[in-house]
Parts: sequence; C-alpha cells; structure tokens
Amino acid sequence: MPPIQRKKCLVEFQLAEQPLRPGEVAIVGAGPGDPGLLTLRALMLIQQAEAVVYDRLVSPQIMELVNPQAERIHVGKASGCHYVPQEQTNEILVQLAMQQRRVVRLKGGDPYIFGRGGEEAEFLVDNDVDFQVVPGITSAAGCASYCGIPLTHRDYSQSVTFVTGHRKSDQSLELNWAVLAAPGQTRVFYMGLHNAPTIVRELTAHGLSPDCPVALVERGTTPMQHMTVTTLEQLEDTIRQEDFKPPTLIIVGEVVQLANKLARPGQAGWDSALTQQA
Ligand SMILES: C[S@@+](CC[C@H](N)C(=O)[O-])C[C@H]1O[C@@H](n2cnc3c(N)ncnc32)[C@H](O)[C@@H]1O
Repeated sequence: MPPIQRKKCLVEFQLAEQPLRPGEVAIVGAGPGDPGLLTLRALMLIQQAEAVVYDRLVSPQIMELVNPQAERIHVGKASGCHYVPQEQTNEILVQLAMQQRRVVRLKGGDPYIFGRGGEEAEFLVDNDVDFQVVPGITSAAGCASYCGIPLTHRDYSQSVTFVTGHRKSDQSLELNWAVLAAPGQTRVFYMGLHNAPTIVRELTAHGLSPDCPVALVERGTTPMQHMTVTTLEQLEDTIRQEDFKPPTLIIVGEVVQLANKLARPGQAGWDSALTQQA
C-alpha cells in the first residue's frame, strides 16, 4: 500500500476515536511483547496518556511508544514476588484518576486473561472511577501463532482451554484433570513452570499419553523467544536442561506436532526488521 494511503487510514482512525478523558482509566492489553501486536486503540491511548501504570511483562519496545511526557509507574511483579501489592496498585489508579489525569493501566497480553484486570476494574467501579478496557492479544494466541501451532485444527483439536498453572500461595493446583486429560483438545498452561510436575502427574494419571507432544515457549513473540517441542514424559527434564524461566507457556496437545511444518523462525524477529532498516 502506498505510504500516503496508510497515513490517511491512521488519521481517520484517530479522528473516529473518543479521546481519553481526564479522570478516566483505560485498562489496556499490550499483547505478548512484539509491538506489532498492539492494537491501534492501545497505541492511541498510550500516546494520549498522562500517567501509565505498567507491568513487568510489557516489553521495553512498547514502553518506547508511550507519550514521552507521561509519568511512568512500574508496578510489575516477578513470579511469586510482588513489587507493588495489588491493593496498592488499585489505590494508585484511583488516586491518579482523582487528580483528573488521563490514566492508562498497561498490562501484558489481555487484561482479562489471568491479568487481574477484572479485580482492578471492580475496584474502579467501587470507587466511582470512569474506565474502559481494551483487549490485547493474549500470550497463548500470540506465542502459538509465532511458533507454528494452530490452537485448534479440525484433524487434531476441537477446543482449546487456557489454564492457570498457579494458584494463590495457600492453594494447591486443583483443576478438573479428568476434563483436561480428555482427547481432541489443546491445553495452554499460563504460569505453569513451577507446577510442571503436578501437570504431568495429573494429566497422565487421568489417561493422557506420556508421549503427548508439549511445547514450551519462553518470551514468545520477542527476539528472545525460546521454543522447544518435547513430550509430557520429558517435560520436567526439558525445563531443567534448557533452563526455562517465566514468562513461559506450556502448550499440551497433538497440534504441537504441526510446529515442525508451520513454524517460521523469522516471525519473532521484528528486531531484525528494525536492524535491517538501520
Ligand atoms: C500473570 S499471567 C498474564 C497473562 C496475560 N494477561 C496474557 O493475556 O497473556 C503471566 C503469564 O503469562 C504467560 N506469558 C505472558 N507473556 C508471555 C510471553 N511473551 N511468552 C510466554 N509466556 C507469556 C506466562 O505463562 C506468564 O507466566
């Protein structure tokens, strides 16, 4: 498309958009890492924001797109260790809104998928703060596509389930394992590294074959993407030998075998596109 038409399209989008209002909070999904996976609305909002409250999973390249004048408040958390407790994050959002700032709460992936976006939105409602939610590409969708794994496929998988591999610290991982072990589906475990032994034990105990293919994807859609295909039986050894660290997804199901055919290793290489321009 010629550049002039592309510019017109963006301008038209901007004109059609409601600007972020003073005192409003936009809870925005930043996607899994690649800035190319931001939505147009997310881009407009982070450029209008006067304060951006963001997580560890929001990539530095996306933070470069934020309004340079905006105040940036990092409330990210490493696995199990919170930099800022959730209650304090909620308070920060309300305080910024009460100061009549234009606020973006920027979160990795989609805010309503394992992202506590729901808890934050509830707190805003309880405190009479105006808000909107902008969906993002959840890491399961982004990472699977970049790794050549169709999450559903007529020949292998008729459904997909996004599963938490982590519960609040006082709770064990109690899931409906009989349902998760049934054939013909894909399971994507978020935050599952720590509980990988439980995932393997329960799925095999409920009838899933130890040979079932499994993909591990660390920092998917970024230039640091690390992806390996293994089996359920070999999962723990692979995690240990290849030193997988959060953020990692565990994708379990027959669709994983398609990665050999469909993966396009260059796809996570948005930095190589930038490098080529330089
Ligand atoms: C607190 S959850 C947030 C999920 C996020 N709201 C989403 O929709 O993707 C964090 C977990 O998401 C997964 N995750 C997020 N971004 C990822 C990425 N780029 N690559 C692999 N896994 C990712 C990891 O399992 C990580 O531990």
